[in-house]
Amino acid sequence: MIGILSVASLAVISGVSAQRTFTVKNNCDYTIWPGLFTNLQVGTAVPDQPNGWEQAAGATVTFTVPDNWNSGRIWPRTECDFSTVQGPTSCATGGCNGGLVCDASTGTGVPPATVAEWTLSGAQDLDYYDVSVVDGFNVPIEVTVSDTSCSTASCPTNLNTNCPSGLQVHDSSGTVVGCNSACNANLNDNQSDSPNCCTGSFDTAATCPPSGVDDYSYFKSGCPDSYVYAYDESSGTALWTCDASTSPDYTLTFCP
Ligand SMILES: *[C@@H]1O[C@H](CO)[C@@H](O)[C@H](O)[C@H]1NC(C)=O
Repeated sequence: MIGILSVASLAVISGVSAQRTFTVKNNCDYTIWPGLFTNLQVGTAVPDQPNGWEQAAGATVTFTVPDNWNSGRIWPRTECDFSTVQGPTSCATGGCNGGLVCDASTGTGVPPATVAEWTLSGAQDLDYYDVSVVDGFNVPIEVTVSDTSCSTASCPTNLNTNCPSGLQVHDSSGTVVGCNSACNANLNDNQSDSPNCCTGSFDTAATCPPSGVDDYSYFKSGCPDSYVYAYDESSGTALWTCDASTSPDYTLTFCP
């Protein structure tokens, strides 16, 4: 009896086969081509899923993710056509180097795109996750956790609808399909020294307050539980954590 218990405990402690289940639901009434990217310079564990796929309206996709997935992201791509071009311009928004399957080292996706981000089993044995519009917005998304004591991260509002004119991104038919962040839109003309990008002389939380970020309130009021700019953690509703010891599963929903 003692021997059996010891073996079982060892397996848990060493985390040999610990995995999470990720579910991606497309509640939009149009096809999404999700992109997935792991920053391999931070960690080598990757999900059991390609770095990009086609997902019809209403479809659900489930895959497993190692519970030490570090610096991973999933985002929606829209209006993709890989028949002639295999690269960032294959999609109206969110396209990546590589084509349908984003390149493992450079396929992070072209802004603007709403991004769900994870670091599992991080510091203090916590999962860290967020929904980011730091690089702009394309599709409403939501991240829910199987551990119901953990918060939902989301950008549930369609920020394309009232996107300020200087931030709008249009598809070939003129429809607004994306809303740039002020940083990406380069409103202040110098992204290396910018209160919108928190760069140069604005590169700390103290020197880059939300009040200095153009259109902060447009994004934060529509999507209060999302990460709106580089130092948005001060809002208390940007970066979320969940106890990793319970090995929670995650559901990402497009158009929640
Ligand atoms: C932009 O900011 C950087 C960093 O402060 C500075 O070195 C550069 O000269 C600036 N460029 C322009 C065009 O002002």
